[in-house]
Amino acid sequence: MKTIIEPFKIKSVEPLRFTSRKEREAILKAAGYNLFNIHADDVLIDLLTDSGTSAMSARQWGGMIEGDEAYAGSKSFYRLEQTVMDLTGFRHIIPTHQGRAAEKILFTIVGGKGKKVPNNTHFDTTRANVEISGAEAVDLLAPDGLDPALKADFKGNMDLDALESMLRKEGPERIPLVMLTVTNNSNAGQPVSMENIRKSSEICRAHGIPFFLDACRFAENAYFIKIREPGYENKTIREIAREMFSYADGGTMSGKKDGLVNMGGFLAVNDDELARRARNILIVTEGFPTYGGLAGHDLEAFARGLDEVLEEDYLKYRIRSVSYVGKQIDKLGAPIFQPPGGHAIYLDAKAFLPHIPPHEYPGHSLACELYLCGGIRACEIGSVMFGKTNPTSGEFEPARLEMVRLAIPRRVYTQSHMDYVVECVESVYGKREQIKGMRIVYEQPVLRHFTATFQPL
Ligand code: F0G
Repeated sequence: MKTIIEPFKIKSVEPLRFTSRKEREAILKAAGYNLFNIHADDVLIDLLTDSGTSAMSARQWGGMIEGDEAYAGSKSFYRLEQTVMDLTGFRHIIPTHQGRAAEKILFTIVGGKGKKVPNNTHFDTTRANVEISGAEAVDLLAPDGLDPALKADFKGNMDLDALESMLRKEGPERIPLVMLTVTNNSNAGQPVSMENIRKSSEICRAHGIPFFLDACRFAENAYFIKIREPGYENKTIREIAREMFSYADGGTMSGKKDGLVNMGGFLAVNDDELARRARNILIVTEGFPTYGGLAGHDLEAFARGLDEVLEEDYLKYRIRSVSYVGKQIDKLGAPIFQPPGGHAIYLDAKAFLPHIPPHEYPGHSLACELYLCGGIRACEIGSVMFGKTNPTSGEFEPARLEMVRLAIPRRVYTQSHMDYVVECVESVYGKREQIKGMRIVYEQPVLRHFTATFQPL
C-alpha cells in the first residue's frame, strides 16, 4: 500500500510565526492560562477546532467572486438549496450563519419547560440551546462509547434500549424530537452506524416523534460507514449520505465542518408548519430566508464545499491522516480515546496524568503543556468544560471523561506539521510526572471554558 497523499496541491500559503518557550510562558500567563485568550498569531499549530478553519479550494474561492449578493432570491441561495435538497431530500432549507443559530431557532419552537430532548451526545451549544428553552437535554450514548480504551467500530451510537424506554415513558407530549449527532463530537468524533441511524428512526416513528440529525460531520460519518459497515463498501459516499438523511425528518448543520467553509449553516425540515415558524424567527434574528445571516458569496462557497466533501479521495485522505496522528501517538504509549475519530484525536488526560485529580483539571494542564512545549493549541474537553459544583451539596462533580482534543482543520496542515505535533506529545509524555494541576480563578456560570482564568498549582 502506498502512502496516502494529500489529494490537492497548495496554491496559496500563510506564514507561521515561531515563538520561544520563554515567550510562550509569558503569553500563557498573560492569557490567564486560558488558550482561548491567546492571539492566534502566537500559536504555531492551531488544533483548537476543526470548525470554520478549513482551507477552501480554488473552485470555492472562484465561487466567492460569483456569489450573488441580492437581498431576496439570490442565485447562490438557490444553488445551496438545490445542493442540500439533492443531498438530504429535506423539503425546506433554511440558511443560518452557523450551526448554533439553527439550533436556537429549532429549540425556540419545539423546546420549552417540561420537555426532554434525547441525543446520542449533545454538543455543548446544542445542549445550551435546549436548556435555554427550558427543556432538558438527555444524552443516551450506547455503552461501547463509554470506554476510552475499547476499540470498536461505532462508538458514537445511540443506546437504542434507553431511547425506546424513554420514548415509551415520556411520549410525544414531552419529547418534541430526538436528535442524533453524526459523528459524535462530544464522544471523541466517533461514528454512528447506518443500522443505529435506521433503528433510532424506526423507534421514533413508532412513537410518532420526529427524528433529526445534527449533521455537522455527516460526510466523515458516511465514510466510516463505507469502510466499516458490511454492505456499504461498494456504495458511493453520496448514496450513503442520502440513506442517512432519508431516515430523518430534518436536521441542523454547521457548514464550518463538512461544508468546508469558514462560515455557514442551515436548518432543514420536512414539516411545512415548522418551516413557516422557523423562517419567521429567521427573519428577526438572522435575515431574509434566502440568505439567513450569510453573504451571497458564503452561500456559493458552501454549496461548492458540500459537493467537494463527498469526493472519496478527499475523505480517504481525511480519515487516514487523522488516524495517522492517532497511531503515532499510540506508538509512544500515550493514551488516546480509541480508535481515532473522524476530525480529531482525543488524548485521555485521566490516563495521561493519573496523579492529577479531576478537580485540578488534568486536561487543562495537559493542553497548557502542549502550548508551552511547541506552540500547539488544543482544547480541553473535561471538567473545565463539563464539571460543576452541585448547588445543594457544594460538592465538585467531575466530567465523565478528561480529554484534550487535537482537532484537525480540513486541508490545512501537512504530515510534517502533524509529525511535529506528535513529537511535542512525546516530549510532554516524557515529563508527565512533573506536570501539576490548575485551579480556576474566575468563571462564568455557563460555558465557562471560554472565559475562565486559571492559576497553576
Ligand atoms: N453540533 C456539533 C456536533 C458541533 O460540533 C458544533 C460545533 C455545533 C453543533 C455548532 O456549530 O459552531 O457552527 O455554531 N462545534 C465546534 C467545535 C465549535 O469546535 O467542535 P457552530
